[in-house]
Amino acid sequence: MLDLFAITAPGLEPLAAAELRALGIEGVVEPGGVAWTGPAEQMHEANLRLRTASRVVVRAARFRARTFFELERHARKVPWARWIAPGGQVRLRVTSRKSKLYHEGAIAQRLLDAIARAVGQVEGGTVADDEADVAADAQLFIVRFVRDWCVISADSSGALLHLRGYRQALAKAPLRETLAAAMLLGSRWDTRTPLIDPMCGSGTIAIEAALMARGIVPGLAMASREPRAYAFSAWPDFDAAAWSAAVDRARGEILPSAPAPILGSDRDAGGIQASIANAERAGVGVDIGFSVRSLSAIEPPAEAGIILCNPPYGVRVGEREPLRNLYAVMGRTLVERAPGYTLGLLSADKQLEGHVGLPFREVFRTSNGGIPVHLVLATAD
Ligand SMILES: C[S@@+](CC[C@H](N)C(=O)[O-])C[C@H]1O[C@@H](n2cnc3c(N)ncnc32)[C@H](O)[C@@H]1O
Repeated sequence: MLDLFAITAPGLEPLAAAELRALGIEGVVEPGGVAWTGPAEQMHEANLRLRTASRVVVRAARFRARTFFELERHARKVPWARWIAPGGQVRLRVTSRKSKLYHEGAIAQRLLDAIARAVGQVEGGTVADDEADVAADAQLFIVRFVRDWCVISADSSGALLHLRGYRQALAKAPLRETLAAAMLLGSRWDTRTPLIDPMCGSGTIAIEAALMARGIVPGLAMASREPRAYAFSAWPDFDAAAWSAAVDRARGEILPSAPAPILGSDRDAGGIQASIANAERAGVGVDIGFSVRSLSAIEPPAEAGIILCNPPYGVRVGEREPLRNLYAVMGRTLVERAPGYTLGLLSADKQLEGHVGLPFREVFRTSNGGIPVHLVLATAD
């Protein structure tokens, strides 16, 4: 059994817990993710299927160390060879808070020494944060010291899980795929009613919607339906047969088409071009109707569904004034053109939301590119 943890952006933990529950896994929500104990098969499933998680990690060790001597003693007992193939590369991401051992570089050096003792000389180094470009075949260990307690986790995902592979063409301010999926899950869209993103940029929300509607798991989000790469497949005890059974099961669940219309539009033609190319790469081009048009010109299908979008926030000086009008148009368009539809906004500004003129309720708070945002929903009658 493994101690597993699905890391999420702050605020998305309950959504990842609900996704795990749907897989039959009862996890415990903690700040920054969801913890559970399970076999390697569940680690495979979580990596392949979770739409809102950024990584899945395995706890390698937990101990108290207040001196380098204690750290070295515990580090020698960590079974490093379980996660590092002979000749493999290693990266450590070390953070230390409120601990006697606070020099992150020195902690990393002691751990790299312990790794070299256990598995032989490896090409090792440190990374500053999750965004750092971790070499594709380097095994990442996340090391956290808090109040002298050290937790070491082995990353099983490799590249961050929002990197599904399909999004190569970008428009302005693209949304992470995991956050787009969180908006869809948080809005409780049931995949059987129309879904419209009238400010779709590079198409992330619409493409994530199409993947969900067709039952395509994020790990198979490329048109080839070949799985993306994961760190666990380089582990010495990797069970290739169990993994390929998990992939086959997921492939077998894919529906031939989305059950309801999915529409994406933007006034920026470049954005729509990017959206179409991204949707083709994800193999869901036929499931989404993309068009160049302004928000006020959308033509929602008669059967009510959800309008879900990530409008500009106007965080820079001088941007807010023109945005008041955009937010007001959103409210008017919903009432006049989309009665009965639910509007979901990822918004950074309560005042701008006020210009929509609808009673919003908050679903979750998180951050998008460092900006605090929340998903709010309202229905026009
Ligand atoms: C924050 S971006 C959306 C990014 C998108 N979620 C993605 O993942 O790429 C906001 C988008 O709103 C579009 N937009 C702004 N005003 C609009 C309007 N009046 N009508 C249609 N689109 C508009 C912009 O062109 C831009 O692509």
